[in-house]
Amino acid sequence: MCTEDSYMVKQSIAIKSSFIHFLNETNMVFIPKGILWVEDGKVKALAPEDELILQLPKNIKIQDYTGKLVLPGFVDGHVHAVQTQAIASYGKQLLDWLETYTFPLEQRFEDPSFALPAIQFFFNQLLKNGTTTAAIFPSKHVDATAILFKEALRLNMRIVAGKTSMDRNAPEGLCDTTSMSFQENEALIEEFNQKGRLNYALTPRFAITSTDEQLSALSKIKKNRPNIAVQTHLSENIDEIETTKKLFPSSKNYLDIYDSKGFLGKGSLMAHAIYLEEQEWERLAETQTSIVHCPTSNLFLGSGLFNMKKCRDYNIPLALGSDVGGGLSFSMLKTAAEAYKIAALQNIEFTARNAFYLLTLGGAKALNQDAYIGNFEVGKEADFVVLDTGSTELMQKRLSNTDDIDEILFVLMMLGDERNIHSVYLKGK
Ligand code: GUN
Ligand code: ZN
Repeated sequence: MCTEDSYMVKQSIAIKSSFIHFLNETNMVFIPKGILWVEDGKVKALAPEDELILQLPKNIKIQDYTGKLVLPGFVDGHVHAVQTQAIASYGKQLLDWLETYTFPLEQRFEDPSFALPAIQFFFNQLLKNGTTTAAIFPSKHVDATAILFKEALRLNMRIVAGKTSMDRNAPEGLCDTTSMSFQENEALIEEFNQKGRLNYALTPRFAITSTDEQLSALSKIKKNRPNIAVQTHLSENIDEIETTKKLFPSSKNYLDIYDSKGFLGKGSLMAHAIYLEEQEWERLAETQTSIVHCPTSNLFLGSGLFNMKKCRDYNIPLALGSDVGGGLSFSMLKTAAEAYKIAALQNIEFTARNAFYLLTLGGAKALNQDAYIGNFEVGKEADFVVLDTGSTELMQKRLSNTDDIDEILFVLMMLGDERNIHSVYLKGK
């Protein structure tokens, strides 16, 4: 029988390992022999082992990951939960790929018995790859979206998501009416927003698949609930931009379509942003709207090369996104490696520190979740990933001649994948 006292006992665990996290973009903390003390799912302390060991409660469980590297869990800033089975589908470019593979697959999520195992598989892939927080596009279906939220709640995962809204230029089965769009979003917000670690985001797919009326209906929701973010696609592909301009001839530019509806602001997420005009960069900076760079997708779909330097110069919040199924991997390590190559093609510096910042605190900031996650500050939720840098013979060989942490991180970024993910913790479990 439980005594009153045992109800009050706090659940504690201590992790012994090497640790890396960021206090800000330029300040990386590396603790070669440290202890992370987690209490009730939150960070109680992180310090060198010899400082903390004597302060730990007597009977605390100590999990020993000596030889491994512990980082805050990775953030995937843009991923589609309903495209896993369309990954690596041969297509021409974006619009053809959407029509041929993506839309037919997304229609199948109307059936909850198809949606549930597909969404469970999706979350399993995220976690296997060390991703503990993601901004997710489900399909347009209310039941499938509810399944997604319930699964995240069951796993106790911090996510940003919302039903994908479309009402034109897509198969009938994927289109809403304006009033449906309004009512279904409102109902989903009421049921799931801020429940556990769930965050609702209005999710108009992109301007091509929404009429002005639908965008206005979503705009009304946003006005009434200014804290709800918006996620969408922006300026990814040349044909997409041309079509968009024809559909919205009076808009100043692509971004203005979203701006005029009040969709920009902190925590709003614009995926891709490859072909921005100067005014669009300025407006993103002014409103501190986030960009999500999706390198594996941009290469696979032949979309173009994202200009990370410009994004830095304008001080626009940035996350990296896998964009599966346009993207080719759930691994944020692989995603970072492709971001490196896209930067290299443009002679832009992109160090391992830059990459791991974006995968952790930078991504958390872009999603406006940095009050809860992103580093090991005291009080933050203890989502973390235990990395094994020697998971392949090649990596072992390559790293056998260095103990320089920047070099280790760079090799991890360029050669790493899900084999390097030893364990993943959500709120200390
Ligand atoms: N633009 C509109 N929809 C999509 C999508 O599903 N994937 C990508 N990469 N771009 C899009
Ligand atoms: Zn996408």
